[in-house]
Formats: sequence, C-alpha cells, structure tokens
Amino acid sequence: MTARRPLIAGNWKMNGLKADAELLAGGLAARYKALAKPAFDMLLCPPATLTSIVAGHIAGTGLQLGGQDCHSNEKGAHTGDISAWMLRDVGCGYVIVGHSERRADHRETNAVVKDKAQAAQAAGLIAVICIGETEAERDRGEALAVVSAQIKGSLPAGATAQNTVLAYEPVWAIGTGRTPTPEDVAEVHAEARKVANQVMGGGGEALRILYGGSVKPSNAVEFLGLNDVDGALVGGASLKVDDFWAIAKACEA
Ligand code: PGA
Repeated sequence: MTARRPLIAGNWKMNGLKADAELLAGGLAARYKALAKPAFDMLLCPPATLTSIVAGHIAGTGLQLGGQDCHSNEKGAHTGDISAWMLRDVGCGYVIVGHSERRADHRETNAVVKDKAQAAQAAGLIAVICIGETEAERDRGEALAVVSAQIKGSLPAGATAQNTVLAYEPVWAIGTGRTPTPEDVAEVHAEARKVANQVMGGGGEALRILYGGSVKPSNAVEFLGLNDVDGALVGGASLKVDDFWAIAKACEA
C-alpha cells in the first residue's frame, strides 16, 4: 500500500480582507514552521486579492498556496478571469477546479473543469479537482454513479498522482453542518480511487483523495482516519486559526 501524505486544504471562498489574511496566514505559518517534522501538507486557498499577502506570510515555512479557480487559457480577452500561469507567478503551487459552487454558480461542466485542470497542470500547478453528488442524487441512490461520471469527465489525459488531487465534497454537506456517515465516505472514496485508477491507467494508489463538507475539529479524526481519505478540503472552519489547526492535527491522531 502506497503511503500518501495527508493534505489539509483551506478554501477561504469569498471571505477576508487584508487584515484577516494577515492574521490567518500569519498564525498558521507560525504554527506550521514550529513543527519539527510536519506529518501533513497544509494548503491555503485565499481569494485572488489576498494571494500575494498570503504568499508573503508563508514564504519559507513550507505552507502551500493555491487559487480557488483558473481559466483554461494562458492569457487573453477574458475579463475578470485569472489564468493558472498568473497563479503560478504569484507563488501558487495548487488550484482548486470544479468546486460545486463554481459548477452551480457558473454552470461549469465536467468538460470545462477538465480544460481548467489541464491548464493548471500545464502551468505546473497541482489541480485539486472537486466532485460530489447533490442530495437528490444521493437519495436516488446515484452517488457512486455521479462521482464516477465526474471523475471520468473531469480528469485530463495527463493526470497523475503528482499533478492531481481529488476532493470528494457531497454538495449537501458543504456549509450545512451535515455530513455523510464515515461508511458512506469510505464507500465513495474507494470507488473514486478505483475509477481514477482506471482513468489514469494505474497510479491511482498514490493519488490523494480529500474529503470536504462541514469538516470541523469535532469530526476530523473520524474522517481523516478512514482508509482512502488522504486529507480534507475545509471551507468555514479554515477561517479560524485554531479550528483549522485542530483539523490538521487530527492527521496525527
Ligand atoms: P465547508 O466547505 O467546510 O464550509 O462545508 C467545504 C468546501 O466547500 O470546500
């Protein structure tokens, strides 16, 4: 069995002004830097306006920086968009693509997500590709089929365990305080690994698959302890230093 290094990723979404970023990134940077041998990677994905500020705070600490989305082109006439190359230029090593909020708010399809992931990888970034079923899909017993179709449709041809991370986030668990049972999460992650392995032509064993959706200090050990769960993508609880840090430390439990 391949050892996969846990990744704890914070998705700040559309939250934070400069002062918040300083407190949050500064606080986490000090704690991460103080660890002699961190057992987990930690990734911060602030809004684009705060990227450079966060980059300044985490320089030299080992903390990772990521964007929340990117365009599939390198540059050009796309008002309001940001390219993967631009994120790379300001110090990002990762970018989230296909978050369910983007799939819903901006009607991003699997094909769009795939193009973005491909651009991210071409720019040298690790693409954190989000997948997850809606509540109606789960109620109809379609969760595994939906996730499987999303993986097949969203993973670009060049995806490897080195340039890709998958994040399973049931849409109905995001920001709601509701979570699937550990058994449900384990079932989806096992299926996701199987399908990713097929799509990638092997190599899926080393792929990191994160769980996301109402992860908090009180449930982190439960999810992070599951076999095929290699970290967490955290929204709300990533906006507080103590909570996000407690979630990360659950990797060591
Ligand atoms: P949440 O968000 O932790 O606030 O549920 C997770 C996410 O959307 O990545």
